[in-house]
Amino acid sequence: MNGKRLNIAMDGPVGAGKSSIADAVAGRLGILHLDTGAMYRAIGLCAIRTGTDLADEQAVTAMAADAEITVAHGQGGQHTYLNGEDVTGLIRTEQVSMAASAVAKYGDVRKLMVRLQQQLAAEQDMLVDGRDICLRVLPDANVKLFLTASAEERARRRYLELQKKGSTESYETVLEDLKQRDAQDMNRAVDPLRPTEDAIIVDSTDLTFEQVVDKIIAIAEEKMHE
Ligand code: DC
Repeated sequence: MNGKRLNIAMDGPVGAGKSSIADAVAGRLGILHLDTGAMYRAIGLCAIRTGTDLADEQAVTAMAADAEITVAHGQGGQHTYLNGEDVTGLIRTEQVSMAASAVAKYGDVRKLMVRLQQQLAAEQDMLVDGRDICLRVLPDANVKLFLTASAEERARRRYLELQKKGSTESYETVLEDLKQRDAQDMNRAVDPLRPTEDAIIVDSTDLTFEQVVDKIIAIAEEKMHE
């Protein structure tokens, strides 16, 4: 490792379990987990609150440039702030998910977020999860991963998660939303979601949570000792 920062980059589509897997892996390795999706979500929330037209690239870019997004890591994991307000609990709705995906299409919004994420990862050892981490945020990461699972399995997991929170949304709606977001994230012009050539693909469709965590720790340890 030559005293270099430990940076683990993890990309993958919605519902692949990135966040909880990343939390567990980072916890076991004793490093922080930066959830970059939360930062796009905070921008999405800001767009909703300010009534910014999501289809208006200029307006969204200006709004994002004015918004101050910060994160802090404590015992409960990452807290995400919008203009100083802790919005961690407010950014998990379906409405914010769709707004986040919409603002994330815009190149200048992405530039702002990438710069912020690179600064954070330069300051401390981190596992960073998102969509463009291997390609854009941490192209020199020690370990690069692409975590995925079938659309049906991802929708099933998301559906169960939403049900636990009391949502009445049907499985079919969750699957449709997920496919729509997949399409939006994978087909956007700027840094679309796809595995980079040097990323190791981990398919979690038929693996338990613990099996995925163990597999990623094994990959990370092997890479770190190369
Ligand atoms: O991981 P998530 O569902 O919280 O991400 C919310 C949205 O933000 C998602 O639609 C894709 C986008 N995103 C992105 O474009 N780049 C990232 N690094 C992280 C998230």
